Amino acid sequence: MRSHLTNLEGRAGFQPRRLEGADSGASAPEAGRLAARVWIEGAMTNEWDAAQYDAKHAFVYEKAKGLVELLAPQPGERILDLGCGTGALTAEIAGRGADILGVDSSENMISQATKKFPALKFEALDAKELPFRAEFDAVFSNAVLHWIPEAEQVIAGVARALRPGGRFVAELGGKGNIQRLVAGFHRAFSALGIREPDGVSPWFYPSVAEYSGLLEKHGLEVRSASLFDRPTVLEDGESGLRNWIRHFRHSFLEKIGEPNALRWIEEVERQCRSELFKNGSWELDYRRLRIATWKGAADECRCYQEQPFT
Ligand code: BEZ
Repeated sequence: MRSHLTNLEGRAGFQPRRLEGADSGASAPEAGRLAARVWIEGAMTNEWDAAQYDAKHAFVYEKAKGLVELLAPQPGERILDLGCGTGALTAEIAGRGADILGVDSSENMISQATKKFPALKFEALDAKELPFRAEFDAVFSNAVLHWIPEAEQVIAGVARALRPGGRFVAELGGKGNIQRLVAGFHRAFSALGIREPDGVSPWFYPSVAEYSGLLEKHGLEVRSASLFDRPTVLEDGESGLRNWIRHFRHSFLEKIGEPNALRWIEEVERQCRSELFKNGSWELDYRRLRIATWKGAADECRCYQEQPFT
């Protein structure tokens, strides 16, 4: 998350180099993977704290076990875990007998996942540039897609990666996710008299209609979609909210500088306490969008055609 997060911050200005593998007789998927590795070497500056993620934010995957039930992985199926983070759900799915590949744009996350689950396959990849072609029976994703505003690019890559009849099962922050917290972020800036910099709340929280429209446009038939509240209690009592902000908004805090970050976090706590601090813990107003979609037969799906990988 994305976390297990497909964190694309720090990638601005990135220019993909010419594909290795393009002249080497590599198959399209293989050339794509080579290309993705070139991007990683050249441009990835993700610095998610994978250990902190496992220690303090494990609720991200603990809460999503029901999503694995919805995926219903079968023995022998090839499954892609998109934004696998430190691999907890990848391992859960592998435990059902599926042949799974976990991908995440954060090299820290991939390295932690590989250490934790050395028998499983993991790879650092950008979710916007999935190189796969009709290779997977299912694509699975938890708590990642709200980090990527270019949702249509991701969905197009997922649709291409699926075999006809394959399924895409995902959960992400949905419309209204953490709206009380984000309102507190804005109030804290006003209260301190600091001009609000860009990027305070960079997330994409679609409604059922908005996301379903994008999925259908790419030949993915939506068979189930729900938007529901998931109030989420953070660990570590009083420190829970500042830990969360420091983990999930670290790049933003770096931009405003440590003295401002300290003042701002304290003010956010003050602004949000009456709504979000309950019985000695911070409880965030998470809201999830959970979808299950199927890819139609090849002739129904215009995006299924092979596209040159650039
Ligand atoms: C979420 O999972 O909803 C989320 C996580 C980090 C930042 C924002 C939202």
